[in-house]
Amino acid sequence: MKKVNPKQLCLNCFATLSSDRVCPVCGKKDEDETVAQHILPRRTVLHKQYVIAKLLGEGGFGITYLAYDLIFSRPVAIKEFFPDGAASRNVKFNNNVSVMRDKKIQFYRGLDRFNKETKRLASLENLEGIVSIYNFFRENNTSYIVMEYLDGVSLKRYVQKKGKLPVDTVLTILHPVISSLSAVHNAGIIHRDISPDNILITRQSEVKLIDFGASLPSDGNENEKAVILKQGFAPEEQYRLSGIQGPWSDIYALAVTIYYCLTCTLPPESVQRLYEDTLIPPSKLGSDILPHQEKALLKAMAVLASDRYGNIADFEKDIYAKKPREDVRKVPPKTEEKYKTRTEKGSTISYKTLKRLEEEKTTKSQKSPKQAIIDNIFSEGEKK
Ligand SMILES: Nc1ncnc2c1ncn2[C@@H]1O[C@H](COP(=O)(O)OP(=O)(O)O)[C@@H](O)[C@H]1O
Ligand SMILES: [Mg+2]
Repeated sequence: MKKVNPKQLCLNCFATLSSDRVCPVCGKKDEDETVAQHILPRRTVLHKQYVIAKLLGEGGFGITYLAYDLIFSRPVAIKEFFPDGAASRNVKFNNNVSVMRDKKIQFYRGLDRFNKETKRLASLENLEGIVSIYNFFRENNTSYIVMEYLDGVSLKRYVQKKGKLPVDTVLTILHPVISSLSAVHNAGIIHRDISPDNILITRQSEVKLIDFGASLPSDGNENEKAVILKQGFAPEEQYRLSGIQGPWSDIYALAVTIYYCLTCTLPPESVQRLYEDTLIPPSKLGSDILPHQEKALLKAMAVLASDRYGNIADFEKDIYAKKPREDVRKVPPKTEEKYKTRTEKGSTISYKTLKRLEEEKTTKSQKSPKQAIIDNIFSEGEKK
């Protein structure tokens, strides 16, 4: 594979620059630009393979960059471990990360967890609702995760623009994430930071969860745990070092994410709800959520973990049920195989065949609403 020359790369559209440093494709002139002294400068080459193009975001655990993969000729997102308050750097001198003298234990413990979690996450291949990991390497006294670049819009941005979403839209958009989360939990990983700004919707109609920076093995011990939370989204057990965290913790944050999409508001903080629960059900805030769906959502948002769903699959079954689950099965299980029914056209078919045809119908019709919703997102010129 031919390697692109990093000096000739347009950092806006990744075409080759002409000799006057103007891009013949996007028309942008290449200019030096320093963002801040701790942010890697544009055109820095990492791992001899990735050219930094721009800063995408900066959070408590790290810095995320858009970069270009010189070997595979594709954009990628790179997350650099750079914990806020424990790491520093001045790129005028070099790109190495310095660790604050009194934060060494915190930094190296965090780095170790970041490395372990990346490996665990990378082993979860081909989950449609989770960002794919391409590579991992150490450099500059820290670690880097290379991920697929998701060109699109965050769910948060989308809701901010569109306002309250109908329940069917929310459940259609979030379906890939919800179904992939089961596999993540089964692999022993808890995300711990699920929220609308960590869910990206791409132009190719993919919906993916990003930002596993705060994730933790589900058997994580207390030394590894840090109090990590996003106000409004974090369950009460995440506020306490001794709080027992598990899939139920992600279920809370996921349910708040759904609540936010339906109502454009956040519930009171979970710790506040412990003392006085003033949560307003989405139906009272104008949402079209059905009663059995609301029951499922409120159970997923229960303040105490013991009142919540223990696993995503049960929550998924209840909230996606077209009717309350008890009402779905109208034919006694033993007789249903033999039961004959009439189709709309009048011919007689077995109950089993009817079920299969209905299932096929829903599978087919499930795809198109998602496509329609996502096409609609981008047809309105939405940008991240
Ligand atoms: N794989 C990715 N593709 C595209 N953009 C990304 C990707 N990962 C992160 N980003 C962007 O970078 C921002 C910050 O990344 P994130 O992993 O959420 O870290 P943090 O929230 O800790 O800063 C995100 O909100 C998103 O806009
Ligand atoms: Mg984030």
